[in-house]
Amino acid sequence: MKNIIKKIELRLQVNGETKQWSIAPGDLLLDLLRREGYYGVKRGCEKGECGACTVLVNGKAVNSCLMFAAQAEGADVLTIEGLAQGDVLHPLQEAFLELGAVQCGFCTGGMILSAKALLDRNPRPTEEEVREVMAGNYCRCTGYQKPVEAVLAAVGQTIAFRGLSSSVREARVKRGKTDDKKRSSVLRGGKR
Ligand code: FES
Ligand code: FES
Repeated sequence: MKNIIKKIELRLQVNGETKQWSIAPGDLLLDLLRREGYYGVKRGCEKGECGACTVLVNGKAVNSCLMFAAQAEGADVLTIEGLAQGDVLHPLQEAFLELGAVQCGFCTGGMILSAKALLDRNPRPTEEEVREVMAGNYCRCTGYQKPVEAVLAAVGQTIAFRGLSSSVREARVKRGKTDDKKRSSVLRGGKR
């Protein structure tokens, strides 16, 4: 007998907004979010290995390529687009920007959301705990050192941060803000 269920109605919160979408039962959360314009949710390996598609579902970091959209019924979903408050970046985004932890940015949204989930449950993680969480988010560009420093800096755990931060700031002033604008947009999810 043919499956006669073609569409189902899904209600959930995305970045604090209530959404109701018609979906197919087999739609993946990754596909749905990108279809709806949340391009900060990146399509990487689609096998649960790279972490580029990470979003928070009820505060927990999940690989959206491994989750059916239907499983998010009634859930609170946070994508990287929902992290900044207007023009004010989240401390994690600010630290990534300050410490030069963003290069191409493909992994960055997922990385920051994984870090947020960690800090929400453990506001004073050790470097080892940060590294363990970040291991689920592959980065081809940065070698992890800067993202790990940025996460620790975001919770004020590196004394060096303030000094480093001011020297990074001076460099930013010297070269102008063009790069920062580009990076800031990447930190908010960027485009496709
Ligand atoms: S795209 Fe989901 S883990 Fe790689
Ligand atoms: S910044 Fe390019 S993959 Fe991480």
